[in-house]
Amino acid sequence: MADVEVPGQARQGWFVTLEGPDGSGKSAQSERLRAAAAAAGQDVVLVREPGGTAGGERIRAILNDAGPVGVRLARRTDALLFNAARAQLLDEVIRPALRRGALVISDRYADSTLAYQGCGSELPLDELRPVVEFATGGLLPDRTILIDVPVEVGLARKSAAETTRWEAHFDRAFHERVRAGYLSFAAADPARWVVVDGTAPADDVFAALWGVLLDMPGLGPRLAR
Ligand code: TYD
Repeated sequence: MADVEVPGQARQGWFVTLEGPDGSGKSAQSERLRAAAAAAGQDVVLVREPGGTAGGERIRAILNDAGPVGVRLARRTDALLFNAARAQLLDEVIRPALRRGALVISDRYADSTLAYQGCGSELPLDELRPVVEFATGGLLPDRTILIDVPVEVGLARKSAAETTRWEAHFDRAFHERVRAGYLSFAAADPARWVVVDGTAPADDVFAALWGVLLDMPGLGPRLAR
């Protein structure tokens, strides 16, 4: 597979991304999905953003360090670093896995940049989209699942130990803009997006997510085996 998606050229594998505000439960749910798909005998790879490669984890450390007490990063620097980590993850992990026909589940992907740096930090979406396009070579997920929770529910779920600069230095209005952004992306592209109510019991959320995978052409029959 080349660095750039060739329109009309079928790629193998399935690419599913999970998105949602902080504290939506994405990370636990994506691990459950990975385990269930693996138990069904499916070749499955779970990645998280930012990170997932040696270089990407270093970039994550820089991002995590940023804030009033750490290094100062401009909003555009933030956007470029998230996308640098993403480009590396695509090159080292995601594209090779798709090429061999795996199911790739990513805990956050390009839509996080549009929601957080775009809607949250208010960088213009029409300037961010080409940056994301460059980093991803145009690779879009087959399905993107938004685990939607109200801001206060998500923030309350984050323990103090988990509080990084991302949670600590952005105000309530920032998180409201992120959530509204996600909901608008989902409404604009229902063929790719599925919205799941993240306030439901975890088992119900999982059942909804698994249902999305079962509905995916070619993948469902393999998982239902
Ligand atoms: P993390 O601790 O992994 O949070 P979560 O479990 O909520 O995914 O931190 C990732 C943070 O980085 C999260 O607040 C969202 C933010 N982020 C961006 O702002 N832009 C991006 O492109 C990505 C991938 C993440």
